[in-house]
Amino acid sequence: MKIDIVTLFPEMCRAPLSESMMKRAQENKIVDLRIHNLRDWTTDKHHVVDDAPFGGGQGMVMKPEPIFAAVESLRKGNSTVVLMTPQGRQFTQSLATDLSKREHVIVICGHYEGVDHRVVENLVDLEVSIGDYVLTNGAVAAVVLVDAVVRLLPGVLGHEQSAADDSFSGDLLEGPQYTRPAEFRGWKVPEVLLSGNHAEIAAWRKEQAKKRTKENRPDLLGG
Ligand code: 6GU
Repeated sequence: MKIDIVTLFPEMCRAPLSESMMKRAQENKIVDLRIHNLRDWTTDKHHVVDDAPFGGGQGMVMKPEPIFAAVESLRKGNSTVVLMTPQGRQFTQSLATDLSKREHVIVICGHYEGVDHRVVENLVDLEVSIGDYVLTNGAVAAVVLVDAVVRLLPGVLGHEQSAADDSFSGDLLEGPQYTRPAEFRGWKVPEVLLSGNHAEIAAWRKEQAKKRTKENRPDLLGG
């Protein structure tokens, strides 16, 4: 899979996507990830990327020309163009799975108060938000999206089963996990986990997953 990120802050994306599993995915050629500076596609002396909104109002709006130039130079026949914006549709595990099957994704990071709407109308396939809060910068959101997509590519996770066990792959959150020591500061690991009884362990985990989902994410239980 190929991913191009276009941002005004390439360093904000570079560091978090250069560690651990994201690093290995690139070294193993599972993903070809490139991070570009949008300013490289400006043609004026001052490399201007934004301007005041028509109709007046606060803040600046990202100009269309450099964004169109960037996408048109990066795009191939089969590219999906994603715009990171708080006005986008909510990013979910299912959207991550969908994007992980695309050959080429171009991620544009919105910034300032917005992006000229001709970009949305005529260039972008999908507007994506990572949640109901506002970040100063789409670059952080792009990192979240790319991490969630790349870890789903075959060969990135150690165990192929790991992704299927994740919270949100099914309809419950993952249950609690424990490791050694079996007793820490007087707090004991639940006895059942030491029992070796796999059926009982599976039943206990299911029950704990339900309890945790009810407490933290009742919306997932549809009521
Ligand atoms: Cl994609 N961008 C910004 N600036 N804020 C956000 C977001 C994106 N998703 C949630 N908040």
